[in-house]
Amino acid sequence: MSKKTSYLLGIDVGTSGLKAILIDRAGKVVTSALVEYPLLTPKPGWAEQEPEAWWKAAVKAIGLVRKQAKARAEEIAGVGLTGQMHGSVFLDKDNQVIRPALLWCDQRTAAECDEITQRVGGLPELLRLTGNQALTGFTAPKVLWLRNQEPKHYERVRRLLLPKDYIRFRLTGEYVIDVADASGTLLFDVKARTWSNAVLDRLGIRRDILPQAMESPEVSGRVTAAGAKASGLAAGTPVVAGAGDQAAGGVGNGITREGIISSSLGTSGVMFAYAKEPNVDSQGRLHTFCHGVPGAWHVMGVMLSAGGSFRWYRDALNGDLVAAAKKKRVDPYELMTAEAKKAPAGCEGLIFLPYLMGERTPYPDPNARAVFFGLHARHTRPHLTRSVMEGVTFGLRDSLELMGLLNIPVREIRASGGGAKSPFWCQMQADIFNAPVVTINVNEGPAFGAALLAAVGTGAFKSVPEACDATIRVARRWDPDPKQAGLYDELYGVYRTMYGAVKDRYEALAKLAK
Ligand code: XUL
Repeated sequence: MSKKTSYLLGIDVGTSGLKAILIDRAGKVVTSALVEYPLLTPKPGWAEQEPEAWWKAAVKAIGLVRKQAKARAEEIAGVGLTGQMHGSVFLDKDNQVIRPALLWCDQRTAAECDEITQRVGGLPELLRLTGNQALTGFTAPKVLWLRNQEPKHYERVRRLLLPKDYIRFRLTGEYVIDVADASGTLLFDVKARTWSNAVLDRLGIRRDILPQAMESPEVSGRVTAAGAKASGLAAGTPVVAGAGDQAAGGVGNGITREGIISSSLGTSGVMFAYAKEPNVDSQGRLHTFCHGVPGAWHVMGVMLSAGGSFRWYRDALNGDLVAAAKKKRVDPYELMTAEAKKAPAGCEGLIFLPYLMGERTPYPDPNARAVFFGLHARHTRPHLTRSVMEGVTFGLRDSLELMGLLNIPVREIRASGGGAKSPFWCQMQADIFNAPVVTINVNEGPAFGAALLAAVGTGAFKSVPEACDATIRVARRWDPDPKQAGLYDELYGVYRTMYGAVKDRYEALAKLAK
């Protein structure tokens, strides 16, 4: 190994902050740094960020990891980019940002989603052309919103980039996107791995505003002299296409062959499966996107409030445990989990529906709300705590069931995110999914995946699966307990009918809550 090219840099343009990570050419994590930035919510349901804030954070984080590892610029052999998906960066003819970017969690585009489905020719046609249904978070509805609501801004648009691709543009001057992130725009023919001329025509969007789509490990460009001066990287450093954060997280979790599925419990909850074919759910309830593994796809379900439900429950009803945890210098979730263990599995008939922020999979419904169902006078806080954890896990099982309908095999589920830190929650996942759950040796998520893609793109490994096999191994395993699994199966039978039972009441409630 030459000392000159010792490191690969992964950059993750997240929603709360930007993470940079350095790995060595064998895939070992050397150091990482996180630089935060604000989320702008100028109106209820809106979520925006300034691309300049991402760029400043990137420059700072690159400086930090270089300093921490004492790495010279020339020692960084390649850069891999990942980040929040779906966000829209609009550039004018001088490459200036026209307005703050609309983010994946922005909910303002319900009318534009209907407009898209109608203009394209109905849901089955949209699914045929793009593999996905129109969701408020996706990029195409944001473009139509700009055209409908801010026509003066729209007239000036010459380029559309996603968050991580704006960082690429500042580093390399190239307009490039990877196929995984392109899949989440709803302008992409996911099966053919290219932009969909049919969709672009029917929506009246010009193809020349879109970046070039590449496979994730491909070199998309090299750091320019100006990019080098601003970032502290060496001019000429190759930057690979990278991947949207879910596909990069899939790579970082080693989801590179059939049968291995990841369950990630962060604020949102994601079930993510590798797919050899671009299989599409008949109603578009799961997302079917290109994977960061060239020639492969992934199918995923995204819950909006997974760990977010547990955090809400901590803040709303567990102030005493938060204070006690502070005194004991432990994580409040540890004390909450210890309490949850006092309640029996199934919480003696208490079920939590985790729709605190509306829902995406399997019910794309911004009006959905959370419910405690089955409360009885003898229930205590431990029951409530455990039912929040169980309800979130049932929500993930909804996605797993939909994957079953697509004949996606399930041999092993890799737990990641904050929820994977709790052995209790991992066992609960194994019991509710009725499948083995494992954790792996690295928990650095998408940034690690992006760095691995850079390692592949610069020749340290022959392929993405080879890079994953060389660097990722199972650390711990939980097998389902047949008795608990049986009980959860029955309870899930009740859970899965609950949304349908209250669905129309959500609409009535939303009108009153305005
Ligand atoms: C994926 C999605 C989120 C964002 C946030 O479809 O919306 O995972 O990428 O990071």
